[in-house]
Amino acid sequence: MPRMGGETAPGEDGILSREPAIQVPNDLDAYWMPFTANRRFKSAPRLLVKAKGMHYFMADGREILDGTAGLWCVNAGHCRDEITAAIAAQAAELDYATAFQMGHPKAFELAARLADLAPGDLDHVFYVNSGSEAVETALKIAMAYHHARGEPGRTRLIGRERGYHGVNFGGMSVGGIGNNRRQFGAGLPGVDHLPHTHDLQHNAFSRGQPDWGVHLADELVGLIALHDASTIAAVIVEPMAGSTGVLVPPKGYLERLAEICGAHGILLIFDEVITGFGRLGAAFAAERFGVLPDLMTIAKGLTNAAIPMGAVLVRKGVHDAFMQAPEAMIELFHGYTYSGHPMACAAALATLDIYENDGLFARAAGLESYWEDAVHRLDEADHVIDVRNIGLVAGIEFTTRDGKPGARAYDVFTKCLEIGALTRPAGETIALSPPLIISEDEIDRLVAMVGEAIAATP
Ligand SMILES: Cc1ncc(COP(=O)(O)O)c(C=O)c1O
Repeated sequence: MPRMGGETAPGEDGILSREPAIQVPNDLDAYWMPFTANRRFKSAPRLLVKAKGMHYFMADGREILDGTAGLWCVNAGHCRDEITAAIAAQAAELDYATAFQMGHPKAFELAARLADLAPGDLDHVFYVNSGSEAVETALKIAMAYHHARGEPGRTRLIGRERGYHGVNFGGMSVGGIGNNRRQFGAGLPGVDHLPHTHDLQHNAFSRGQPDWGVHLADELVGLIALHDASTIAAVIVEPMAGSTGVLVPPKGYLERLAEICGAHGILLIFDEVITGFGRLGAAFAAERFGVLPDLMTIAKGLTNAAIPMGAVLVRKGVHDAFMQAPEAMIELFHGYTYSGHPMACAAALATLDIYENDGLFARAAGLESYWEDAVHRLDEADHVIDVRNIGLVAGIEFTTRDGKPGARAYDVFTKCLEIGALTRPAGETIALSPPLIISEDEIDRLVAMVGEAIAATP
């Protein structure tokens, strides 16, 4: 049984103290870790015990520059006092309120704030607890919408190769990452996929949106011809694919998808779990790209990740289609015990205040060109075959080493951590997505550490 002992943890000032300030576990066996090589991790554990602002602190006292905003989610930086206070106050006042046939004020207040923030008439909010649940909910709303309109035959769903839409059965099925699917059977029936847009021959080392690839949206026309529009409920894509290793949409691509969907009565779902809340220098990618989806999934940055929460934002026309039935009827037979949890609502409201008061979305937009120049300093680094970026996101892709996919990116990730930066390996790519509070100096330090790690990785 793997054991740890004798670690010390950083005190208030981040300095290693003789007495452990934070208890670290000495038994690592019971916890089956998600998306982790458990035995490898437990043979050399990496424990985070504390965080503040741009930094994590490891159990051994080391300060780590957070190059990934946790997992694309801590957009306002770690342990923001306003969020901590809001959660504590809410926990003391109303710990839980049932969400079925009952409500509480903050759920309504937050929904109105989100409707205000969202582009166009994305005016209605359905609460969930994670990105995966947001996706399941959006897919179900899409099918139920067509059912409500008298087209129950529209049940097909179209995703995209290399897409990531969480890990539940719907999201896994429309997702397009082989490793996430192959252990789990056939998935949902009636699902098809668009091709992904990544082609190094045409778009390697793009700055911002690649010029090549708009024609790939037209593959949707082929799928519609194959299945017939009358069988298709929705198309779901990440406006910028994150978890697969940062794929920036080609110029005109999302516009074209929206046009084709609109022409055939197919709902367009943007999965903005990563791109929401400033990651691309605007409140949402939909705003940045000027393309309005019918449904939008959000999570992560919604609460600055301090409390789990997600939501589906729904356009007025879609919502209103459900409101034609008799008033006493439940319009959507769907929901979660923790939908609109009071503490999550309190955390989200405090988070939205920070985004607004600190102007963090505009801040991210203002840093984009500095960030772009900085990450493209890695263009010539060893084994690097692509650097791509948009907003405060970058992907650095490597050649595969010794026929072992992902091995080099994983080694760069562990080397970065040794040097003092948290990065995210995603296949052959290292993804960077720092909190939006990052300074220019910290951008330089992050990129320098990644460069040093790449140089030290065979
Ligand atoms: C685009 C997208 N959708 C859905 C999810 C799933 O979110 P969660 O892990 O909160 O279930 C993620 C997570 O990274 C994501 O990036």
